[in-house]
Amino acid sequence: MHTVISRPSGTRRESDSYAVTAEFYDILQADADEARVRRLYGREIARARSGVLDIGAGTGRVTMLALADSRAGVHAVEPARAMRTSLLTRLAALPREQRDRVTVHPLPLDEAALHAVADVAVCHNVVGCLPPAVRERLWPAIGRALTPGGALFVQLPPARLPARTVVRLLADKRVGEHVYGGRMTLSAAGYRIRARADYWVKGAGGVLREHTETFWMWPATRERLLGELAPHGFAPLPGHEDSELLAVTLRRHR
Ligand SMILES: C[S@@+](CC[C@H](N)C(=O)[O-])C[C@H]1O[C@@H](n2cnc3c(N)ncnc32)[C@H](O)[C@@H]1O
Repeated sequence: MHTVISRPSGTRRESDSYAVTAEFYDILQADADEARVRRLYGREIARARSGVLDIGAGTGRVTMLALADSRAGVHAVEPARAMRTSLLTRLAALPREQRDRVTVHPLPLDEAALHAVADVAVCHNVVGCLPPAVRERLWPAIGRALTPGGALFVQLPPARLPARTVVRLLADKRVGEHVYGGRMTLSAAGYRIRARADYWVKGAGGVLREHTETFWMWPATRERLLGELAPHGFAPLPGHEDSELLAVTLRRHR
């Protein structure tokens, strides 16, 4: 299903991706992911001067860290309405000083027309969800949005297709009388990864409801992404040797 929304320049069709997942995203994944986000990007975000760009902000994990730990302005780019709803609910509860520093862009980055707004950009758990053709539009858009010498941090997607089906159980979480649970099943499908998310809510008498949402992922190695980024002025950024992370800087003279 798609919703038609209107904008001054006309109308566009808005994706309803994450319509199922948004409800379960934070309750099942926030704890582990918050620690990961702080470990991967915390130091650089705290040093941001001109701004932090959170590409594919989702429910706001990176955005919230940036608002808490830096004094810089924050641009949260999130095209999916369901994820953006959680993000804005979270921003609504912030003190005014923080809310005044964050702008939410409800579009894919390459349609958001952002120019030199940040010296730190983060793609956390995003690049694996983008087909190569969309990645090709993303890199120059990040180049335009960053100031020269700015840094981009990308959480690396899976390097290759899974050899066999992988099932990852998400830790149960109690909310009052109910227990929320979930499972991710990753399997190879041609050149893509099929990621099926199953969620359930249990009460004393058993399962109350179950939901499923399927995503597609595209594997890419660090070397391949570096090769894609280089023509757009990005070079490896030394000092960030983490197997999960790709760190690059935008050359000052291109
Ligand atoms: C798996 S979610 C991750 C959300 C968040 N970064 C996190 O880790 O909690 C991927 C997000 O990227 C967003 N996204 C997809 N394509 C995008 C694009 N071209 N520009 C910006 N965001 C995009 C999706 O709407 C989705 O919310």
